[in-house]
Amino acid sequence: MSNTNKKNQLPGWSIFPAVLVLIFGILIGIYYTIFSDETIATDYKEKADLLKIEAKFDMVIPQRTPDAITNGEKLYSQVCAACHGQDMKGGVGPNLIDNEWRNPPAKETHLFKLVWNGIPTGNPPMPAKGGRMDLTSEQIWQILYYLSSKNKNIEKDAVPNQ
Ligand code: HEC
Repeated sequence: MSNTNKKNQLPGWSIFPAVLVLIFGILIGIYYTIFSDETIATDYKEKADLLKIEAKFDMVIPQRTPDAITNGEKLYSQVCAACHGQDMKGGVGPNLIDNEWRNPPAKETHLFKLVWNGIPTGNPPMPAKGGRMDLTSEQIWQILYYLSSKNKNIEKDAVPNQ
């Protein structure tokens, strides 16, 4: 009688570790679903909020003066010409002096976003803010004033805030 009982209990005990592993797995699953996703989501949202604040206070849109355009020309030579050509006729990056745009519309406010954020899908990728130069918003607007002084197809829609 007791022999039969032992035989019946053996499968029950041998399944114990498997049940433990299962419970552990479920707990980890619950932990990642409830806590981690939320943490990542909150973290991401906080960063997005920070970026918006930064952009709001950081943004300098200078006056369209001859000095700003001259400075833009210098910066263009230093930062952009390597890819877009000194004459803006293109190189590894597209021509910026014609009226063909891979990323329309051709207006300063839109081009600002492209240069500020970069174009990671480009071949080669266009670095954000001119890459290592880490251009300020003021410098990027100056470059765009220079571009739109050369390329009349670019709509001059920047609204200076200085
Ligand atoms: C490492 C090379 C590289 C550098 C440096 C670079 N670009 Fe670009 N740029 C590109 C590429 C590649 C594209 C095209 C991306 C695509 O496929 O849409 C591009 C696209 C653009 C466009 C959009 C053109 C279009 O036809 O839609 C503008 C405007 C532009 N760049 C301006 C600039 C300015 C201003 C600078 C300097 C601050 C600069 N780029 C620096 C590679 C570069």
